[in-house]
Amino acid sequence: MPQAKLLNPDHRMFQMVHLISEYSWCSMHHELCRVCNALDEDDFVLAGRLLNRTVGLGEFPVQTVRLLQESFSQASFLSMRDVLMPESTGLDSPGRRNLRRVCTAVWRAFEAALERHGVGHRDLIEELGRLEAPAPGERLAVLAEVRNGIHLLDCKTMEWNQLHLRLVRSLIGGHPAARPGDGSATPAEPLSMRGAPISGLERLAEHSLFPGLWRAVDETYQRTSRLAAEGAN
Ligand code: HEM
Repeated sequence: MPQAKLLNPDHRMFQMVHLISEYSWCSMHHELCRVCNALDEDDFVLAGRLLNRTVGLGEFPVQTVRLLQESFSQASFLSMRDVLMPESTGLDSPGRRNLRRVCTAVWRAFEAALERHGVGHRDLIEELGRLEAPAPGERLAVLAEVRNGIHLLDCKTMEWNQLHLRLVRSLIGGHPAARPGDGSATPAEPLSMRGAPISGLERLAEHSLFPGLWRAVDETYQRTSRLAAEGAN
């Protein structure tokens, strides 16, 4: 966009942050398609390497949203907001949509690989926590690294979600701390450009791209607690 068309001097940074985020998500999508192929072909070393790269790419949007959060003023944002595309919403972001889709495919390919090789999530969690030799075999070790890569990727996208929520609360409002604690009437909640309450983002902030991962964490906790209780009796 030419200089003369910028809404204010911060507009350029606002645009750049969006572009960097979209390019990064597009690139992550590309690498994750390769992860699916590598998993299907039992090339778990490559899958792990590409997952590491994807997590690294996920750092760009995290850094840019942090930059906005730390350096963008509410007054500057509000002066642009009304002129920006009305009813625009991040929910339309092609990068995020495609990322969600490909992560479903990655999970499916990963579960299929585990089934092919008769490996369970518990085996991988135990292998990743192994503190000494002997190694149980290369396949289990590399699959445990792949699982760890998926875990780090999910945590990286949640990190973005949480920073974005903090950014939105700094620029539009809606932080729970602003709600009156004395029982008086709650002021009208701030709304997004498409007119939705900001509190809707709280649910998205904890959204996982790999829910199966977290189910296995809970199951491991429950099983370990049960075994400890049985051992104590
Ligand atoms: C500059 C200040 C920003 C504000 C005030 C803001 C506001 C919002 C709001 C209110 C939502 C909830 C959806 C809705 O009701 O429309 C949302 C979602 C979203 N925003 Fe932002 N946003 C900002 C910056 C960014 C940036 C820099 C990006 C990067 C491209 C971004 C990408 C998204 C995405 C992808 C979603 C959907 C969330 C998800 O899929 O989990 N936003 N944003």
